[in-house]
Amino acid sequence: MFDIQQLLKEELKDSYSIEDGILCFSPKSTAESAQDKYESIADNIDFYTCLAYTDVHTQNETKSVYSRINDVLLKEFKTNSNPLFVLDVGCGVGRTLYDASTLFDNDYFFGFDYSLNMLRRAKQILLDGEQLQIDLSSSGLAPFEVIGKHLPNVHLMQGDALKLPFKSHSFDVVINTFLIDRVGDVRLVLEQIIAVLKPGGLFVLTSPLNFQKTENWKYGNSEILIELLKEFGIEELVSEDNITHTEILDARGNSKVWNALMVYGKKAFP
Ligand SMILES: C[S@@+](CC[C@H](N)C(=O)[O-])C[C@H]1O[C@@H](n2cnc3c(N)ncnc32)[C@H](O)[C@@H]1O
Repeated sequence: MFDIQQLLKEELKDSYSIEDGILCFSPKSTAESAQDKYESIADNIDFYTCLAYTDVHTQNETKSVYSRINDVLLKEFKTNSNPLFVLDVGCGVGRTLYDASTLFDNDYFFGFDYSLNMLRRAKQILLDGEQLQIDLSSSGLAPFEVIGKHLPNVHLMQGDALKLPFKSHSFDVVINTFLIDRVGDVRLVLEQIIAVLKPGGLFVLTSPLNFQKTENWKYGNSEILIELLKEFGIEELVSEDNITHTEILDARGNSKVWNALMVYGKKAFP
């Protein structure tokens, strides 16, 4: 039986709080929560959940980044014998976890995010098995239902990617989707994330190209991102450029198209 303590840094064992069944390692103050758009998305969270869990946002795409990730996982681990430990950093409402953890139902999936409200929604959908009525009336779209699951192999945790609570070399797979475009220091976040990956483990990153900070725009070039990942010991790197990710904004036909990239590779043995 799996015990979360075996993944945690020695000094953090038993030092977390639990909110609504979610382990919290870096709880935010009320002021911090009010400033974080992912917490205040509460008003807007139905729309975010819609983007995450319907085809609405992918109808113009050939393949979503989430199904591309599943393809890579299936290619690498179709026949794995030992259970995999998979970490999704910045998991949001859980759109990467939803399909991947169902495909690999004997493996352990960990969704880690800074926003407790995003995780609360992920929990309703992935763990509590709730049938959620999503209200999209403020965008002029019809309501729809998300079919919740009971996925005993999914574990959700709140914390900051810059202060990961996990021991080095804990995970067989580390994924991050649409995270590094919005963090301050891409190099530091990637270094932290890669540190918790086992040697030989698989690292998968997808990101839109419009990095929020000017100094990070260079990482929209996959060659520059690959050079950085090599510095942190990721090899056998493969990149997929020219991915488009379309999100419907409202019933009046407005949408946003994100140009995105995907990079994946294996962590070298020391
Ligand atoms: C655009 S959403 C993407 C969510 C999810 N990966 C997906 O593809 O649907 C970005 C997520 O990153 C989370 N995030 C931002 N900064 C973070 C940090 N420093 N540590 C952990 N999560 C963070 C946000 O709370 C948000 O849920």
